[in-house]
Amino acid sequence: MSLKIEFTPYPLGHEIKDIDVRNLDDRDFDELQAIYDRYGVIVIRGQSLDPQEQIAFSKRFGPLERFVWEEYNMRDFPEIFVLSNIVEDGKPLGLDNGGRYWHSDMWITEQPPRGSMLCAIEVPHADDGKPLGSTWFASTADAYDTLPDELKNKIENLSAVFSSKAFSDFVGYNKPADDQDVHAANLAKAQAQTKDVLITHKMVRHHPRTGRKCLYVVEGAITHIVGLDPQESRALLDTLMNHVIRAGVVYHHNWQVGDIVMWDNYSAVHCAIGDFQWPQRRLMHRTTLSSSAARAQEATPSTSSGTM
Ligand SMILES: [Fe+2]
Repeated sequence: MSLKIEFTPYPLGHEIKDIDVRNLDDRDFDELQAIYDRYGVIVIRGQSLDPQEQIAFSKRFGPLERFVWEEYNMRDFPEIFVLSNIVEDGKPLGLDNGGRYWHSDMWITEQPPRGSMLCAIEVPHADDGKPLGSTWFASTADAYDTLPDELKNKIENLSAVFSSKAFSDFVGYNKPADDQDVHAANLAKAQAQTKDVLITHKMVRHHPRTGRKCLYVVEGAITHIVGLDPQESRALLDTLMNHVIRAGVVYHHNWQVGDIVMWDNYSAVHCAIGDFQWPQRRLMHRTTLSSSAARAQEATPSTSSGTM
């Protein structure tokens, strides 16, 4: 191994040191990708990629997907989804309060993406210099591995129903918007145009590249587990979610300008922390890695139970 890794005490969030992602040879790239697959969340600091460089680096992992709400994608580089609380000429630059719940991305789709790459362009800070707006990560692969066998057996073939309305109620997207708040007004408009979408996912999915089993849970979006009575369903969902984010396993990423963080959408969940407000500025650029690249490498299609 030639790449230098600084390990966190957690299952994920390890930092790859001393590389420039613009100039990685194939050998180093393959090694980087193997580390990403193995651990699920990796950090590379000091990169400061422009949109073209971010897209070029992202595409080395395979095809990209566009974020579902086109209005938040960059006009000139639509592969880049903008997360920001900045408003220019009365228009939000990006999605303001996205991801403030424990989730993997785009669970509402039948084939959620392989993963995402987030680059920090502007990071909010407190008056004392402490960075705000951190992102927390937990491993759903480690969570599965550390479940008692009895629980593993119980959930092996269970599926759960995910609902866009349940999610919107949970995160408060359906609340009446203050007319002065252009971010909230935008979201309310998007929600009003969207009917409740239901999708069923297996609760245990195999990682298509590593074969590891991963728990599939999302906070607030799951209405019930198929075949269980409501009480048992709710209790089991709570048990699993609490296990994923139990004390001692969650990595808190405190952002610095120039950071790249990549997360695997099968083996990790994440939660954005909204502890800042305007005029503290936050601007992040996300690219989304398509699941098709990951699925092409599935060793045994019969074990690829990622979706309905
Ligand atoms: Fe997210």
